[in-house]
Amino acid sequence: VGVSGRAGAPKALDVVLGGLRRLEYRGYDSAGVALLDADGIHVTKRSGRLARLVDAVTAAETDTPVAAFSAPAGIGHTRWATHGGPTDANAHPHVSEDGEVAVIHNGIIENFALLRAELTAAGVELASETDTEVVAHLLARRLAEGGTDLAGAMREVVVRLEGAYTLLAVWRRTPDVVVGARRSSPLVVGVSEDATYLGSDVAAFIDHTRDAVELGEDQVVEARPDGFTITGFDGVPVQGRPFRVTWDAAAAEKGGYATFMAKEIDEQPQAVADTLRARSDLDGRLVLDEMRLDEDVLAQVDKVVIVSCGTSCYAGMVAKYAIERWARLPVEVEYSHEFRYREPVVGPRTLVVAITQSGETMDTLMAVRHARQLGARVLAICNTHGSTVPRESDGVLYTHAGPEVAVASTKAFLAQITATYLLGLYLAQVRKQMDPADIAEVMRELQAVPDKVQKVLDGSEEVRRIARWMADTRSVLFLGRHVGYPVALEGALKLKELAYIHAEGFAAGELKHGPIALIEPGQPVFVVVPSPHGPGSVHSKVISNIQEIRARGARTIVIAEEGDDEVVPYAEEVIRVPATPPLLAPLVTVVPLQVFACELATAKGLDVDQPRNLAKSVTVE
Ligand code: G6P
Repeated sequence: VGVSGRAGAPKALDVVLGGLRRLEYRGYDSAGVALLDADGIHVTKRSGRLARLVDAVTAAETDTPVAAFSAPAGIGHTRWATHGGPTDANAHPHVSEDGEVAVIHNGIIENFALLRAELTAAGVELASETDTEVVAHLLARRLAEGGTDLAGAMREVVVRLEGAYTLLAVWRRTPDVVVGARRSSPLVVGVSEDATYLGSDVAAFIDHTRDAVELGEDQVVEARPDGFTITGFDGVPVQGRPFRVTWDAAAAEKGGYATFMAKEIDEQPQAVADTLRARSDLDGRLVLDEMRLDEDVLAQVDKVVIVSCGTSCYAGMVAKYAIERWARLPVEVEYSHEFRYREPVVGPRTLVVAITQSGETMDTLMAVRHARQLGARVLAICNTHGSTVPRESDGVLYTHAGPEVAVASTKAFLAQITATYLLGLYLAQVRKQMDPADIAEVMRELQAVPDKVQKVLDGSEEVRRIARWMADTRSVLFLGRHVGYPVALEGALKLKELAYIHAEGFAAGELKHGPIALIEPGQPVFVVVPSPHGPGSVHSKVISNIQEIRARGARTIVIAEEGDDEVVPYAEEVIRVPATPPLLAPLVTVVPLQVFACELATAKGLDVDQPRNLAKSVTVE
């Protein structure tokens, strides 16, 4: 976060701490601020959660003179450690030896060892183990030579850096200027009458303005109290793309909930409804012109490759079943980081779909670039306006889940599945693989999903009770078939992320080929039971799988459709979900698993919103 305000504008300290509070989900190993006044740059930084920094500045157990607290310009950072552990010294901002420059940084500077060696040889003493610190020294040395200002020095320094970075810097000589630079890492500008803001995303300044400007790749921005200037790394002035944030500060607040995750789980009916809104006409025909991809191009597509990470990848796995069924196109689903480093067979007729909540996941961004180099068309499915992946893709379909703050994804997952269904139906429509009436019918079924999700939420006391008595469990398995398989994977991931419990998801059919050896008496196993009205005999196959594990002593907790009584004799616990057409079932069956993980982690007294070692938006590869 950075701010440059006029006298009388909100104090930089308040702006920066407020912004960091909203961005803390991006990393929470350590935090720091640098404030500027006539006496110079004053830095306070602490390892640990943001609260420690706030304590430090409010208890004035800091070197920063109290007067600086009212300064109108400053920068602040919350860190997810890459180079150097989460210590006070490694926390940002980093200051040059002469105290002239302070810098914060996201990303990784890959050639930092070389630059460190160069600086050490020149007699500079480095104070931290980070890759970031070199930038402070390089900037200070360049500025000491004279003949340029901070933005100019930044342009000269960034071209020496390899890797990905967002940098913000301040210079003692121009105490109301903050300069930012970005390469493959996010940075947006916030604009108001009395101040200019810089942030990794708009949440950083949403308390002050909803007017934002997107920065492009390899650009430098100079923020001043009265406005800003953007140039390329080459110094040529460029126009940023202005946009208005569609949600307000209240959407990024807990609003009476104990955790963001609990709130976001409850917002899921809305997330699905909002993602469906205004995307079909009265006849149920899909209207997705916003996607920026020509119907002709889409009609030529002969393969879909989905790239994504984490929860988003499980949304992609669900999508595979639907897109193949509806559009009759082969669909491959792959982790972005695996796709990027092999030799995928893609070309001009491949549609690569990058699913990313944040739009900033570095692995996915690299996969997008790789796919475009190979000539593929890339469509982003994304929840964040102004983010990098949609900007670098050929087209975008936004999910309208609203800001997701909890590190473990929930409402974005449902919105992603919904968006991929829209895409699948649209491809079917363009390729004439489905009757318009059948498309309209699926759309009606989708419109009914928000109410069904609401029903699951209203009836979630049962699953909460189970979670509470399972708080001491050391291992939980999850089984599913067909679209229930990615749901099982997601259920396991949620439990790992939130409750630090060993959890595995399996395709139920694969069980007998190995994982069944894990089953011993008392082993809890969740089973996502498909609809009895689903394709082929998947339902009866899963019932058989349940019997196989029960015969070996497993405790089975099944998630089954209302009215499916066949499961009852084989289950210790039955969690009911409303009947839903088989392909759409993940939108309801995953919800109890999210509630389960959230409740169990709460029962263990863990931090549900910010689990250890994780970050919401992973901007390093
Ligand atoms: C991180 C988060 C996960 C998320 C994944 C992909 O690892 O902790 O919750 O699913 O990134 O994020 P994206 O923003 O690309 O969907």
